[in-house]
Amino acid sequence: MLSFLSTLLLKLPPETAHSIARFFLRLFQFAKKICGSRIAPGPFLIKIPPHHEFKVRSRLGLAAGFDKNAEMFPGLLHFGFGFVEVGTVTPLPQAGNPTPRIWRVAPEALINHMGFNNVGLKDFQKNLRKYRSGIEAPVLANIGKNKATPSELAIGDYEQCIQALRDLVSGFVINISSPNTPGLRDLQSVSFLQSLVSILPDDNPSFIKLAPDLSKAEFEELCQFVLNSDRLSGVVLTNSSRSLSEMRGFSEGGLSGPPLLTTSLDWVERARSVFQGRKIIIGVGGVSSLEDAQKMREAGADLVEVYTAFVYQGPRLIREITKTF
Ligand SMILES: Cc1cc2nc3c(=O)[nH]c(=O)nc-3n(C[C@H](O)[C@H](O)[C@H](O)COP(=O)(O)O)c2cc1C
Repeated sequence: MLSFLSTLLLKLPPETAHSIARFFLRLFQFAKKICGSRIAPGPFLIKIPPHHEFKVRSRLGLAAGFDKNAEMFPGLLHFGFGFVEVGTVTPLPQAGNPTPRIWRVAPEALINHMGFNNVGLKDFQKNLRKYRSGIEAPVLANIGKNKATPSELAIGDYEQCIQALRDLVSGFVINISSPNTPGLRDLQSVSFLQSLVSILPDDNPSFIKLAPDLSKAEFEELCQFVLNSDRLSGVVLTNSSRSLSEMRGFSEGGLSGPPLLTTSLDWVERARSVFQGRKIIIGVGGVSSLEDAQKMREAGADLVEVYTAFVYQGPRLIREITKTF
């Protein structure tokens, strides 16, 4: 039934398909809730520096951007994900970029130019309060800045998100790498990270999410900063790639899915050689099978996430990977 629905959705425009999937997921999670079904913590204990831990039932999580408003994560966790990232949320609601803003391209890849469309912090908070009970799996909030906030005031947006959500989530992913908010990727700098660490909470782990389009020198400098900071627990590698979508002739948007795998594996390996096991690496980008997820682990990822392959393959992929992962 789920496979049939997934195949059907791929025949519809991407955002229509997402809205229908959202409807069914919310129905499914409502049914699970009235049956009293809980998401218990799992058997894998992941030690997160400096003094946190996650208990997950699988090392596979859902990447940010699928559940932007924190309203479907219980249903998604029921499919077998060990953890989820919700968001990206920004302090104020945003409509995002004009449509069409997402395209399917071969081979089973996506180019998205969404622009942080989301309900804003207030409703996001309400959703977390409503749906979080009974969920013991880690739920990470991916946070960003509003498009209208100038870069020099961006830190204030991140701080608002942290203060509003710190009691409701298991940790934060600081998104400074989306290609679809002008100026956001300029925050991938040591000077921004220096101001960022002063607002990060001590009671939740925080990760930064980086772009695959950085130069090797920039990337290594940022990893060194993470290594030396006791407020940052690690990195999420990587966001969608602007340069790969440019190569396909798109003047906007970032590419995700299989063509990203080589770069994301490379970035994970480089981060591992800097961290030497002292920080957490969440590997994401092009993972489309159990074999890819294993490659990500071998490259050095402690946890792995998927997005695009889930869109193309549906819950079957999660069952396949989590059987042994
Ligand atoms: C439609 C779409 C929306 C996304 N939205 C976000 C987002 O809001 N925040 C974020 O950090 N990443 C976002 N991403 C990036 C994914 O989280 C992930 O980093 C990227 O897609 C690479 O993984 P994949 O190849 O498994 O899709 C989005 C990706 C897609 C395809």
